[in-house]
Amino acid sequence: MKLNKLLLQNFRNYLNLVLVPHPNLNIIYGRNAQGKSNLLESIYYLSFVNSYRTKNDKQIINWDKNFFRLEGDLERDGQNYYIEISCSEKNKRLKVNRVELDRSKYFGTMRTVLFTPDDIFVIKGGPNFRRKYLDRQIFQIYSRYYNIYSDFKKVLYQRNTLLKQIAKGYMGKGQLEIWDPQYATLCSEILKRRISFLKKLRLLTAKYHQKLTDNKEEIELQYKMECFTLNENKLPSPEEILKHLNILRKSEIEKGISLLGPHRDEIIINIDGYVLRDFGSQGQQRTAILSLKMAELELIKNETGEFPVLLLDDVMSELDLFRQHFLAESITANIQTFITTTDKNIGEKLGKDYLGVEVTKGNVYLGG
Ligand SMILES: Nc1ncnc2c1ncn2[C@@H]1O[C@H](COP(=O)(O)OP(=O)(O)OP(=O)(O)O)[C@@H](O)[C@H]1O
Ligand SMILES: [Mg+2]
Repeated sequence: MKLNKLLLQNFRNYLNLVLVPHPNLNIIYGRNAQGKSNLLESIYYLSFVNSYRTKNDKQIINWDKNFFRLEGDLERDGQNYYIEISCSEKNKRLKVNRVELDRSKYFGTMRTVLFTPDDIFVIKGGPNFRRKYLDRQIFQIYSRYYNIYSDFKKVLYQRNTLLKQIAKGYMGKGQLEIWDPQYATLCSEILKRRISFLKKLRLLTAKYHQKLTDNKEEIELQYKMECFTLNENKLPSPEEILKHLNILRKSEIEKGISLLGPHRDEIIINIDGYVLRDFGSQGQQRTAILSLKMAELELIKNETGEFPVLLLDDVMSELDLFRQHFLAESITANIQTFITTTDKNIGEKLGKDYLGVEVTKGNVYLGG
């Protein structure tokens, strides 16, 4: 997948930018606070229709304007796609080849893998980070998962509201029977997709982790449900989930929340049998996140036939020379990559053909 042209209008500190990226390696350099990450954020936004830095689109619109626009010329499977996103405070429109699409149809048009220093939270942070990490990848590959997931979130919200009302005596328990079959079906659908994805991700992560640690460490990804012993080869059916909801009913009403469901599940990352989050050294955690990212890249390629666009926001400086080298070696000619850095010489160090993009206060100068 290649982004052949990128246009930004009123996006953060870019008022009007047209960039023709290099098909392989783009080094975006400049001093702090000039707009390097903003440029990467725009490419990410074209994929995910949101930002990895804020949930609030208003923050992205240039301070002096009331909308932003993004356009991209994308080459995928030998075909060209013209993608557009326009966003004002009130609405957001997505188009592919001038046809307006909703989010679930748009997802998967452009696929990216992003790697930032904050990804360490996938290891160090709470379960929510790991669930999000997994779900975002699944959205990119199977856009239908986005619909299932959004439906689940709506039903979960309704169900939790109802549980609270039952606890207060405003509603009868019988009301739950209206929501529960749908809730159980959605739980089971999400679980199916997550596990099928995790099985593949697990193998690839283990492969990369072995390479990165010279076969000294074994990494393992484990999926855990809070109140269910999971057998990955025999996932619970909606009926079984429904049965379990009945068992949990009393405590759910007491607590006023849904206790069983994908929003409570956990992905545990183990190294040689111990939990990396609790016992791993910083170096081990960084290696693990690099293994996960490399796996993500390869998995998208395996599932879709093409490598996604790779965005590396400030990560080179976080990695030691060995891991830098490993990453650089892995960026083969068919992975279009965008790297932000304050180190102007990184392009030379990587020893590949590249485009140098110098960013100063939202303006871009091509060099390198
Ligand atoms: N909505 C906005 N409108 C205008 N300018 C903005 C907006 N949001 C952010 N900025 C500007 O963008 C700057 C940050 O840009 P960015 O995060 O891309 O920096 P960077 O070049 O990646 O720096 P660093 O090397 O520190 O990571 C802010 O300092 C601010 O001036
Ligand atoms: Mg930055």
